[in-house]
Amino acid sequence: MMRIDILTLFPEMFAPLEHSIVARAAKKGLVELNVKNIRDYTGPKHGLTDDKLYGGGAGMVMKPEPLFEAIEDLRRTPNARVVITSPAGRKFDQRAAEELSRAEQIIFICGHYEGIDQRVEDALATDVYSVGDYVLTGGELPAMIMSDAVIRLLPGALGHDESSQEESFSENLLEYPQYTRPPEFNGMKVPEVLQEGNHQHIRRWRREQSLRRTLERRPDLLSRAYLTDEDKQILDDIRAERPEGPGVWLSLIHYPVYNKKHEVINTSVTNLDIHDIARASLTFGLRGYYLVQPAEDQKKLINTLLEHWQHGFGARYNPDRQSALNHITVCDSIAAAVRGIEEQTGQKPLLIATSAKAHPKMRDYSTMRRMIAESDRPCLLLFGTGWGLTDELMDTVDYVLRPVYGAGAYNHLSVRSAVSIVLDRLFGEGGAHFDERF
Ligand SMILES: C[S@@+](CC[C@H](N)C(=O)[O-])C[C@H]1O[C@@H](n2cnc3c(N)ncnc32)[C@H](O)[C@@H]1O
Repeated sequence: MMRIDILTLFPEMFAPLEHSIVARAAKKGLVELNVKNIRDYTGPKHGLTDDKLYGGGAGMVMKPEPLFEAIEDLRRTPNARVVITSPAGRKFDQRAAEELSRAEQIIFICGHYEGIDQRVEDALATDVYSVGDYVLTGGELPAMIMSDAVIRLLPGALGHDESSQEESFSENLLEYPQYTRPPEFNGMKVPEVLQEGNHQHIRRWRREQSLRRTLERRPDLLSRAYLTDEDKQILDDIRAERPEGPGVWLSLIHYPVYNKKHEVINTSVTNLDIHDIARASLTFGLRGYYLVQPAEDQKKLINTLLEHWQHGFGARYNPDRQSALNHITVCDSIAAAVRGIEEQTGQKPLLIATSAKAHPKMRDYSTMRRMIAESDRPCLLLFGTGWGLTDELMDTVDYVLRPVYGAGAYNHLSVRSAVSIVLDRLFGEGGAHFDERF
């Protein structure tokens, strides 16, 4: 039998745990719940449960002595999980619930005021969990939420008709919509497929609905979900239903950029940038790739390369590469690229620059992802070569994307690496973490 102890200043708040499935689990002997008042451990020695904050600042902090005493008193096994509830904790999720459900004993500590003296966490806690990115007045609701999520996973807690197998998060997908009788209510019908009873069709419909919900509401989960080829096809079909915006283009700027000495120069072309950026822009659904290069000899070099892959032996040998390179337009200036997009869409594109340094026009990826998705104007992403785009050019753009930061101080990505990372954040699965929409 699992034992759950809850340490709180407000034991009367736990009445909800005396009902429903949780109460049934207790009655069946699956769990023993013990709500304990922290004040029982203050004793004549300390008296108070809270005290002023060291170092100054508003509010009070819960003292360590009563909590140390309480845990010593309540602990039944050296393996007991001691869980502190805190908005500064790791996020509690289904995986954490599953892990806690295997414990013999869990002791939850409900904080109040400004929180709990750090020494309780350092010496006694096995876990510090937050139930979400918001601040509550106390740890009682979080402790109830976590107890509920854990208890319903105990074998035998749910009845025959309640399943914990096929539900939200069990596969990092949200659960599909569910219906019961009547088949029609206020003009709203239960989907036909569910009423017809063809199990194969129902299975597929449910899977599609699950994927659709996850894509729309929690796209961040998708990168952790196990997806079959069929799932990926379904997701592609759902994405294709979205109204197509005016589109996004990318440009690689050889001029005007800085050199090492902060002089404005025109850089020479790099074969790898031509190929790799063309492939990345096609992969992420961009409408075109402008190579901005005014020097005639450099343009000749690019055209020789393109000729080989677009029309020569390369085209016959590797048609995939041909379609990527067909994406490229060579032009003299950014103004020419802008004109090209205007000719295709009838609108001036929003200019979105990238930089390795922070900039006053900087926007984070979630903002730009949403802005691009909802924009009724086409967008042109500007990537610089050399030592980056010139200040004059940066003055003319509409937005600047946040730099891609690495693990440490060294930050010298090649432009083609930066392109792939940025495109993934703006249009790919990597960006789902930055996105509440899709
Ligand atoms: C007002 S909060 C303390 C906030 C603390 N000063 C901070 O900013 O991290 C008081 C108590 O409520 C509980 N609590 C508040 N929000 C929570 C959350 N999102 N998840 C888990 N516990 C929470 C914790 O037990 C916390 O000690």
